Amino acid sequence: MDPLQYLRLIVVFIHLSGFALLFGAWAAEQFSGRRQVTPLMNIGLAIAGLAGLVLAAPWGISYDLNYVKIGVKLVVLIVIGALMGIGQSRARKGGGDGKVAPGIFWSIGILTLLNAGLGVLWR
Ligand code: HEM
Repeated sequence: MDPLQYLRLIVVFIHLSGFALLFGAWAAEQFSGRRQVTPLMNIGLAIAGLAGLVLAAPWGISYDLNYVKIGVKLVVLIVIGALMGIGQSRARKGGGDGKVAPGIFWSIGILTLLNAGLGVLWR
């Protein structure tokens, strides 16, 4: 296999690891009832986002990239990041238990899953 093609596979693997970290950390918070934005979620988002940007450039492939799909994924990622930031700061200011509002926290997980779905199913 062409080395560049293989390098791209490695970046896809890193991209998926970021997704796993973000979604796994989110699910642990959601289903334990803690509902806090954790450092692991931020790290997962950063890894998925950075690797995604690297994959958004046309290298190591012989087909054309779908830039509409990539643009939508980028917007969804930005919304996820904004919800994480807003949720976290509101929870802190509230002076309570640091729990993010249920609507915001559910949206973070659902949008993360949506982005994975877009990556796999939008062809
Ligand atoms: C929470 C955010 C994200 C999640 C959960 C996510 C998830 C995924 C998944 C599951 C795939 C499928 C990999 C495969 O088919 O083997 C994928 C592919 C891809 N993602 Fe993302 N992604 C995210 C953000 C982004 C962002 C921000 C970008 C770019 C701006 C991006 C660009 C891509 C590209 C270009 C591919 C195709 C890789 C290829 O087949 O060469 N992703 N993503």
